[in-house]
Amino acid sequence: GLPERVTIYEVGPRDGLQNESAVIPVEVKAEFIARLAAAGHRVIEATSFVHPKWVPQLADASELLAGLDRVPGVRYPVLVPNERGLDRALEHGVQEIAIFGSATETFAAKNLNRTLDSQFEMFEPVVARALEHGLKVRAYVSMCFGDPWEGPTPIDQVVTVGRRLLDLGCFELSLGDTTGVATPGHVSALIGAFGGPSRLAVHFHDTYGQALANTLTALREGVTVVDASTGGIGGCPYAESATGNLATEDLVWMLHGLGIETGLNLESLVETSTWLAARLGRPSTSRVVQALEKN
Ligand code: HMG
Ligand code: MG
Repeated sequence: GLPERVTIYEVGPRDGLQNESAVIPVEVKAEFIARLAAAGHRVIEATSFVHPKWVPQLADASELLAGLDRVPGVRYPVLVPNERGLDRALEHGVQEIAIFGSATETFAAKNLNRTLDSQFEMFEPVVARALEHGLKVRAYVSMCFGDPWEGPTPIDQVVTVGRRLLDLGCFELSLGDTTGVATPGHVSALIGAFGGPSRLAVHFHDTYGQALANTLTALREGVTVVDASTGGIGGCPYAESATGNLATEDLVWMLHGLGIETGLNLESLVETSTWLAARLGRPSTSRVVQALEKN
């Protein structure tokens, strides 16, 4: 069966904008987030408190949060890799953070400057202190299906890393297909290897056009939290073969077609996607946005 309701975890302002080559003014980011909330989003990943030299696109995280108009009932999680990042997030009254681990050795080095094992030493005090402050902590695990340097990621390795991240005290684990290589059978096998969908979310990049099929498979396995980005923007600067995320508008079209509730207004989402595309200077890659714009 399929769930009656799905929570869409919108990553456009973070995963999307971290990968833009153009500098996006902080006012545009703030308006983007406000539009997403107005369209019905209840979880919007706003930015990252990472090293500004590593991701200059999000170096304005403090400024953005200082001016953020928080809508009651909307969660605004931010990425935090280490204690320095947590300090910065706490200064701005953040109530939810996301740590981001790697399932592979090579990506741990490239994205975190750590070994597979030493990433946990970095995350452990972050989660402990965040929980002391009453924050909710999500965990990502990247390269869950394959990694451009190491090939397919062994499923037991993903489960080991994922469990270690959850065991730090995270409420949710988002399975990241960073470079979009997953296919539906692999998705079922991985969720099965975790013993079912409990506490799992999915995060598909659409590099190979499989994101929607993979998502439907995850829903059939019982997952009810799905990451997506407006207009399918996104990618990871430390995994060059990654393209954008699953487009939120395409996901919502499918979910509403299946009679699954999202709380989102598709028309507003399409409008925001078109508005954002104009700011980024290229069309939305969402097929639904392209189709509706032609009507
Ligand atoms: P490092 O160079 O090892 O850092 O980077 P360090 O701990 O050695 O510190 C060096 C200096 O950086 C120090 O300054 C720190 O204060 C400063 P100094 O004392 O030399 O003057 N520093 C910071 N400054 C501001 N904010 C911070 C911070 N941390 C250290 N948070 C680090 C390690 C983790 C910081 C670095 O590797 C980093 O920032 N990585 C982030 C990379 C990233 O953001 N990647 C994209 C997000 S992940 C993703 O997109 C995947 C996902 O979407 C899921 C999927 O698709 O799979 C989530
Ligand atoms: Mg991602």
